[in-house]
Amino acid sequence: MLQEITHLRTVIEQDLTSLASNGGSSVSADALEQFRLKHLVRKGTLAELTERLRDVPKEEKPAVGKELNLLKTFAEGEFKRLSEETSSKATSTPTLDLTLPGRRWQNAPKHPIHQTLDDMLTIFNRMGFAIAEGPEIEDDFHNFEALNFPPDHPARDMQDTFFMHAADQAGKPRPDVLLRTHTSPVQVRLMQSQKPPIRAVMPGRVYRNEAISARSLAEFHQVEGLYIDKNVSLAELKGTLVSFAQQFYGPMLGGKELKYRFRPSFFPFTEPSAEMDITCFLCGGKGCRICKYAGWLEILGCGMVHPNVLKAGGIDPEEYSGFAWGMGIERVTLLRTGIDDIRLLYDNDVRVLKQFV
Ligand code: DAH
Repeated sequence: MLQEITHLRTVIEQDLTSLASNGGSSVSADALEQFRLKHLVRKGTLAELTERLRDVPKEEKPAVGKELNLLKTFAEGEFKRLSEETSSKATSTPTLDLTLPGRRWQNAPKHPIHQTLDDMLTIFNRMGFAIAEGPEIEDDFHNFEALNFPPDHPARDMQDTFFMHAADQAGKPRPDVLLRTHTSPVQVRLMQSQKPPIRAVMPGRVYRNEAISARSLAEFHQVEGLYIDKNVSLAELKGTLVSFAQQFYGPMLGGKELKYRFRPSFFPFTEPSAEMDITCFLCGGKGCRICKYAGWLEILGCGMVHPNVLKAGGIDPEEYSGFAWGMGIERVTLLRTGIDDIRLLYDNDVRVLKQFV
């Protein structure tokens, strides 16, 4: 029996040495666990020898028992020391602690611009308009030409354009590639890709080369609308947009009746063209700084789609007609949130964004 104890000590010592040498400066938790399972548990080597102590003749028992206890103490002590060493090292390297309380997820509120967009789109959706999108990098054809902007026509100056230094796949320069200046090119893309009836709203980001200030940025958002079918009339344009204005702006008037008016205007892609004004929802029409004491706020541009635009989109103007409109998102977002500097909408400062849940 004493011999067996000596043998086991050799084994344990060897195991400890290989533990330390394999792990280098840090003993792996896995290897330590192996050691524990081999020697220290109830069915381990030490327990097994202790069990057999029973069969040892009485007079030898004290000596054998003492030897065995010494070995046990040694093995357990070494195990404890090594475990402590590894766990203190473990704390200095990041590990996954599943017992920690969870981190609270910050539920981000929707950005004010998207709240406005969503509210608008929901209303048009209910009226049967699908949502469509187009690319922000456009070409001259979709952004201008197909929309009846003649080449060199001063109408192009209405919109200061960012041109891109683009090239085609063969490396040839493409001077006609630009950042879209409005969402109207999506109208053309829809006409090219589907047959009437077309009924869609097209939200998106647009770009213009403008000086940045508290009131304007070089990028902003618009929602475009398009309805094309047989016999679409100006009355339907008015009906649709008035209904939208009542649903969207009506609630901001605090019970006051929403008044509206269509003023004649000009856009190359519509004929006739108009701009729509509504009662200023900040002063209720009495006149204030925002409406420049007129009592009216302009909310959108609109008109009957010009026959040239239908043609450019591959639609026969003899058979179909339609109306379209476009409106900006930033100004109404500033007015409804009370934010007084448009740049705040683009800074993504959580202290600002958090306020608009
Ligand atoms: N594209 C115009 C702009 O950027 C807005 C607009 C006016 C769009 C009239 C339309 C429209 O579809 O019919 O200012």
